[in-house]
This record gives sequence, C-alpha cells and structure tokens, in this order.
Amino acid sequence: MDNPNPKPIKRIGVLTSGGDAPGMNAAVRAVVRTALKQGIECVGIRRGWSGLINTDFMRLDNSSVSHIMNKGGTILYTARCMEFMTREGREKAIATCKMLGLDGIVAIGGDGTFRGALALTRQIAESGYYLPVVGIPATIDNDIGCSNYTIGFDTAANTAIECIDKLRDTMQSHERCSVVEVMGRHAGFLALYVGISVGATAVLIPEREVDFEQDVVEKIRRARLGGTTHFMVVVAEGAGSAVEIGKQIHEAIGIDPRVTVLGHIQRGGAPTGRDRETASRMGYEAVQALLSGKGNRIIGTKAGALTDMDMEEALAMEKKLEMYRYEVLEALTPGI
Ligand code: F6P
Repeated sequence: MDNPNPKPIKRIGVLTSGGDAPGMNAAVRAVVRTALKQGIECVGIRRGWSGLINTDFMRLDNSSVSHIMNKGGTILYTARCMEFMTREGREKAIATCKMLGLDGIVAIGGDGTFRGALALTRQIAESGYYLPVVGIPATIDNDIGCSNYTIGFDTAANTAIECIDKLRDTMQSHERCSVVEVMGRHAGFLALYVGISVGATAVLIPEREVDFEQDVVEKIRRARLGGTTHFMVVVAEGAGSAVEIGKQIHEAIGIDPRVTVLGHIQRGGAPTGRDRETASRMGYEAVQALLSGKGNRIIGTKAGALTDMDMEEALAMEKKLEMYRYEVLEALTPGI
C-alpha cells in the first residue's frame, strides 16, 4: 500500500526482532546515519516488537551507533513476541507508534518479523494512520524468499566452518567419525554451504528426503574404501538430530561417532566483511524506500544488487535450495 497522504518523514523507529544475526548492528547504524543526514530523527525500539507494546525505546543519535559495526548481537536487543501476534497486543503497539509520532519503521529480522510488520500496518490503517514498514532481512538461516542473501549467513557459516575444521583435526588424529548439527531452522542453506566448505562425507538437509543407508552409511563405506579413515557428517537441525544420527551410524556399522551440536555459537561473533557491507547497503536502502513513499517493502539482494519488493508479495515467495549444490557436494566426496 503506497502512502495515500504523502507527508515528509520526520521521525522513524528502528528495531531488531526474532533470532539475532551478526550484522544487525551494522544495519542499525546504516539506518540511523542515513536518516540523520536527511534530517530524520531516529528512535530505537528495544526488544523487537515487544518494545512497541511496552514503550521500551531510546533516542538514537550519531554517537549511539559509533563503534557497533564490528559487534555481534544487537544493541537494540531482540525478542520473539507472542503478544504482538494478538490484536490486543498490536493495539498497544499502535498507541506507542502514535505517541512517538513515528512516520515509518525499519524492522530488521526474518520472516516472523515481517509478518508482524504487515499485521501492524494493516491494523493501524483501520484507524486512518498510515505507517509504512521497511524490512531488512537478517537471519543466519538465509531463508527469506525475496532475497538471495540475508544478513548474518556469512558470519554464521564461517563460524561453523572454523569449528568443524577444529573438529576435523582431532577426528583425523583419532580416525573417528564426527556428526555435527548446524542451525538453519527448517532450511538446509547453512548446512549445505558449510558441508561443501568443509568437504563433508555426508550432509543431511530437510529439502531432500534422507535415505539413511544410501546417504550416510554407504557414503562412509565408500570413503573408507577410498582410503579415508575419518568422516564428517553434517546435519541440518531441520533434517534430524545429530545425536540420533550418531546412534544410527553406530548401530549400522559399529563405529563410535562423536556428536557436536554447534547451537547458538553460530549466531555470535564479529560480523564478516560481507555481512557488514551488505547490512550497510541494506540500511541505507531501507531509508531511501521510506523516503520514496513506496509503502511496505522488503529490501533484498538479487545477483549482488539490492532490490525492494512489496512486503505482501515478498512474503508469498518461497525460497528453494539450489539442488545442484548437493550434486557438487556428492561429486567431491571421497569414494570409489
Ligand atoms: O532463526 C535463527 C535460528 O538461529 C534458527 O537457526 C534456530 O532454529 C532458531 O533461531 C533458534 O532459536 P532460539 O534462539 O529461540 O533458540
């Protein structure tokens, strides 16, 4: 929905919501710095959408966002807010938007963050108040349909790769099998990217039905017949539990795997250059989208360039894992 009564944007809110992702701070900084240069005031809404419900906010100026670019996490805190899913919760949030006199919001997060944004703007429109929200995709899962890339993915992937490289050292010395679970929620983007990058023996992803005998056991056997004496199995959390896979491997071939669940370590740490730079461009672009009066949008990347798309259309898009990447993985695993 485009702005029916265009008026200058004077004050915007910025928030981070859902699971944090390295690079969120760089996005906040870019939004604030771009807005201030245009004479727009910035209000940081703390703890995601719940900050609007609980009037939990802070003024943001140039110095509030100094030296945050290199920091993981989010200076605005984040939360997953169940109350915001209710009409009553959003009514409280709307009261805060009106009280603060917000002309727009930049919401940094994933799918749930954007669905919340859409519900808020629809409800607020019922009271004749126009409040556009621009979304910036930030999640280590890289599972946002309208964007090839989401902030945080590169850092999380590199963290997982570094951890698995370390595991490989000890697995190699002891000639063991390692089963490593990586995050990604319902998607296998992170697991497959990491699996290719560490030269995994096998990778299990939710997008591909697992045939345990063919996809795990046979791959370990082939690697062994090809001369390898240690094995790395990467499991996307959405494809199953690494603990269970470890037990099944033991039952099937008698080896005794060591299991590691990487967990939230993947969400922390200083963002990589790619995440800082992408977040900076996306933050800049989000403010431009608000200024253009285009309405609810989600910023995305396509072939390296930035795009912005209507939020409703963007949320209807499904992101498919390119299965050729799985073929690459299989082509490179050791075997006979
Ligand atoms: O969406 C990011 C993510 O880290 C997923 O990969 C994971 O499934 C989930 O969040 C974990 O959420 P929480 O931090 O609530 O445990």
